[in-house]
Amino acid sequence: MIRQMTTQDVEAVHRIEVAAFPTPWTLDSFYYEINENQFAHYLVYEDHTGIIGFCGIWLVIDAAQITNVAVLEQARGLGIGEALMREAMRVAREANMDTMSLEVRVTNTVAQNLYRKLGFKNGGIRKGYYTDNGEDALVMWVNLNE
Ligand SMILES: CC(C)(COP(=O)(O)OP(=O)(O)OC[C@H]1O[C@@H](n2cnc3c(N)ncnc32)[C@H](O)[C@@H]1OP(=O)(O)O)[C@@H](O)C(=O)NCCC(=O)NCCS
Repeated sequence: MIRQMTTQDVEAVHRIEVAAFPTPWTLDSFYYEINENQFAHYLVYEDHTGIIGFCGIWLVIDAAQITNVAVLEQARGLGIGEALMREAMRVAREANMDTMSLEVRVTNTVAQNLYRKLGFKNGGIRKGYYTDNGEDALVMWVNLNE
């Protein structure tokens, strides 16, 4: 059900991105991630209806960063986001990453609950990080060796 994303998946993933985020990444940025960015590793969650969730990771030296994670609205609350994040953490450990971090809107308690469940802790605040409404980002991180 979870596999590595390919160029053929970009349009379906982009539709999920657009539905999930107020300032979505462009189609081209996903093509770049898949075809050119040597640090990027993208996962998709697929069922009989097609792709219903995805997660992106950058693996840089010893630190993994989640770029985006989203699930189609009608498929939320079923454990798909958690499964994607657990697989991302497994991939990062396999690539010898020591930590994983991400930014999340301070108001996005649903996502924060998911990350906390997986052992992520609060780091700093990035003031005015989100350009659409000037909202702050909470940095969350986990030690992958613990
Ligand atoms: C965040 C997101 C990826 C979670 O995916 P999901 O498949 O719905 O989440 P799961 O069903 O795997 O839930 C895992 C955990 O998340 C938390 N969670 C999920 N839905 C929640 C809700 N409605 N209220 C509170 N916590 C919730 C819980 O901790 C849950 O664990 P539990 O079931 O043991 O309580 C999904 O809500 C989403 O796509 N949101 C829009 C995009 C987004 O905000 N992405 C994160 C950007 S940083």
